[in-house]
Amino acid sequence: MIPESFIADRPTSLRRRPGYGVIARYRDWLPVSESDPVISLGEGSTPLVAAEKLSEILHCETWIKVEGANPTGSFKDRGMTVALSVAAGQAVQAVVCASTGNTSASAAAYAAKAGLSTIVLLPAGRIATGKLAQAIVHGAKVVQIDANFDDCLELARKLAHEYPVALVNSVNPNRIEGQKTAAFEVIDELGDAPEVHVVPVGNAGNISAYWRGYTQYMSAGKATRTPRMWGFQADGAAPLVLGHPVLQPETVATAIRIGNPASAEQALAARDESGGLIEAVSDQQILDAQAFLAREEGIFVEPASAAGVAGLLAKQQRGEIESGLKIAVTVTGHGLKDIDAALSRLGPIHAEVVTADLLAVATVCGLLD
Ligand code: F0G
Repeated sequence: MIPESFIADRPTSLRRRPGYGVIARYRDWLPVSESDPVISLGEGSTPLVAAEKLSEILHCETWIKVEGANPTGSFKDRGMTVALSVAAGQAVQAVVCASTGNTSASAAAYAAKAGLSTIVLLPAGRIATGKLAQAIVHGAKVVQIDANFDDCLELARKLAHEYPVALVNSVNPNRIEGQKTAAFEVIDELGDAPEVHVVPVGNAGNISAYWRGYTQYMSAGKATRTPRMWGFQADGAAPLVLGHPVLQPETVATAIRIGNPASAEQALAARDESGGLIEAVSDQQILDAQAFLAREEGIFVEPASAAGVAGLLAKQQRGEIESGLKIAVTVTGHGLKDIDAALSRLGPIHAEVVTADLLAVATVCGLLD
């Protein structure tokens, strides 16, 4: 029989130092204090996959950081473990976020783990079904707002200012701190920084987080260089490319349908300090890149996540990529979150139904020819 004292102690002692997750792996680099409970679902340590087909096309050594392999299916979990651990340490009761879907899914899961309640503000009708399901299933209070993401973020900020709820959008610095660990992992795995790191850009927190991770690791002597940061937005939601906010952002990549990025300044600094760039790709290029990743590299991502690869392929076609570069590209979220977008280009699902007969199956599979 398990002694009662053990049961009573267990949650606290288990939360002090779990052996998994980004806080366990990179605690010295993160603003989590000894007294904070660690709220982790085992995020981070995601695959860095050698992208053979993409490398062939680009004439570059190309690696894909598969962030859809995180517990809730996106890179948001890296920041959320830190934000929720700190919030739980401060005895916060509830958290709030605005989201295009992934932040809300992650916040809802980590708050559930922490025993806190979550409020999520979402642009009505513009959230992929899988992400909406995640927030609801994890028990968040889901409020759809008849407005876009930028308006939702404004409301979330005000809610956190006026009421006793903690904001866990990436304007919360603990989120960026957690997300920078992806850059640490790339260096730890490759032995040095790549020459170029490519990411999709929406609210612009992640490109800023990678840049922080790369610069911190280099300052500590863990890398000999920092990469050029290349960010890609969607044509219809490209405020950082245009140089001004977009009032009515529009793109099939709903995760990055953002017209006024909260971390615009930091993202532009990351671009300039790294000698990088932020460009835009069309919805068609995004969907083509999504299909390429699925069919050629075996990686199923949601549309926004394919923006970086779309950008690389577009630049290659224009002759703008020098051969022989070492490139890392982050794909940010799992394709299963938004199957409507993935299937929309294919039309109705076409899978034949045949009798349970070997010859019938072999025939429809074309094996008799
Ligand atoms: N890719 C995916 C799948 C995302 O969900 C997001 C952002 C981004 C890229 C862009 O990252 O905002 O740091 O530049 N999603 C946020 C959300 C806005 O609410 O889930 P960013």
